Amino acid sequence: MSTTYRIAPSILSADFARLGEEVRNVIAAGADWIHFDVMDNHYVPNLTIGPMVCAALKPHAGTAPIDVHLMVQPVDALAQAFADAGADCISFHPDASTHVHRSVQAIKARGCKAGLVFNPATPLDVLDWMIDDIDLILIMSVNPGFGGQGFIDSALRKIEQARSRIDACGRDIRLEVDGGIKPDNIARVAAAGADTFVAGSAIFGKPDYKGVIDSMRRALG
Ligand code: DX5
Ligand code: ZN
Repeated sequence: MSTTYRIAPSILSADFARLGEEVRNVIAAGADWIHFDVMDNHYVPNLTIGPMVCAALKPHAGTAPIDVHLMVQPVDALAQAFADAGADCISFHPDASTHVHRSVQAIKARGCKAGLVFNPATPLDVLDWMIDDIDLILIMSVNPGFGGQGFIDSALRKIEQARSRIDACGRDIRLEVDGGIKPDNIARVAAAGADTFVAGSAIFGKPDYKGVIDSMRRALG
């Protein structure tokens, strides 16, 4: 069975003064999803964009799903606001929610897909109890908070473990990786079992978005 890979450019590294145009351009360049990083200056030491920006960008994304990555604590109120703002998938860090199962159910009740995100030093144990309820697992290959950091190699082992759990459960769950992904390491990340790749600085840091996305697809084979 061949894997359908997805490239999800993170608009964290886009030009914030021209976000609508950036979203249109990166989709025209071949992006599959738009990765939307939400930081609250509390769970992570940075502050980005909220549900009003998501609602404003939704028409620019066309049919491309908006993949919201919440780096916020608490989770539930903002998750609901992003569901109302047109998010297609909402992921949060389980260590940021007191009641992880309730947060997942609330996201799905709003018609969105739900994902759990794992920091570089966070174990996958919560999946023992949550894998039957989620649509996506997001493995962080950098510490969350900033774009442009280097890929942490231990993420590869965690991706392998997450892939085994997905295969054992047999459900259709996306395995996404976020942080430090570039054309020259994406094949290793795919070989470990990932099928969805976030890339911020690698794409928006270059003038030719299509050139970078094409070279990522070539590396994926
Ligand atoms: C980091 C964010 C990432 C970030 C990735 O906290 O979750 O999505 O934008 O950026 P790069 O690809 O530059 O590592
Ligand atoms: Zn992210």
